[in-house]
Amino acid sequence: MRSRRSCLAVPGSNPRFLEKAQALPADEVFLDLEDSVAPQAKEQARKNVVDALRTGDWSGRTRAVRVNDLSTMWTYRDVIEVVEGAGDALDCLILPKVEDAGQVAWLDTLLTQIEKAVGLPAGGIGVEAQIESARGLVNVDAIAAASPRLETLIFGPADFMASVNMRTLVVGQQPPGYTEGDAYHYVLMRILMAARTCDLQAIDGPYLQIRDLDGFAKVARRSAALGFDGKWVLHPTQIESANEIYSPTQDDYDHAELILDAYEHATTVDRRGAVMLGDEMIDEASRKMALVVAAKGRAAGL
Ligand code: GLV
Ligand code: MG
Repeated sequence: MRSRRSCLAVPGSNPRFLEKAQALPADEVFLDLEDSVAPQAKEQARKNVVDALRTGDWSGRTRAVRVNDLSTMWTYRDVIEVVEGAGDALDCLILPKVEDAGQVAWLDTLLTQIEKAVGLPAGGIGVEAQIESARGLVNVDAIAAASPRLETLIFGPADFMASVNMRTLVVGQQPPGYTEGDAYHYVLMRILMAARTCDLQAIDGPYLQIRDLDGFAKVARRSAALGFDGKWVLHPTQIESANEIYSPTQDDYDHAELILDAYEHATTVDRRGAVMLGDEMIDEASRKMALVVAAKGRAAGL
């Protein structure tokens, strides 16, 4: 599984940002052809993105490109130009505004054809699906199961808020008037359940107030607490914060490794399924919880 604690958005129309992004410590970098690129700049952006993938140094990072959504006239050519031009330098495509499983199936078929035509390994290019409308959320279970290429489901808060007419213009923060609870809890949990059912990663979307780092951290901690694997970042200053928030703390990681060692000893040497570790009773379920934390901690190099 690729690490995706921080997924950096880089507009494909901006060669300076495409260059600068190569030096930043994000787990994933996605070169955008969609909403951060003006309609008049879409064609040039495709060329910039192919060039950046071909010539840039992206080592150590997951390389993704977000194509335009299927209601536009750009999607098919985005996919063809990017994958024919730089398919061997690309890990995933991000499909935005996914409404139903058929849209993912369309992308899967097109990728299969291009891979055959240009001699890329079959099924090598992964897909990430953005869930950012009422319809996409209602169909999220089928979307999650639509292709073996799928690696993540991503929440798109801005488009989602527009889709359901949420009464606010500030992405990520609680809408005024919603005084108790978390207005995003249902959608985050819904996406998380669909993702985990199909062994996909669940990724939280962007926080647009890029100067408000405390606000970013607060929103990120909420989805990290539920189990989300990472979050989109729009600015270099958000990267470190995301990398830290979506990694376990050192204490939790050490504790998880301790549980795994103690439980291994209990079951194999003592032949017992439930034992005390300090004041804590641990059993097989504790081992499973510890495995999740340990795996994330190891991936983060703790
Ligand atoms: C991201 O694409 C969003 O709409 O929030
Ligand atoms: Mg969006």
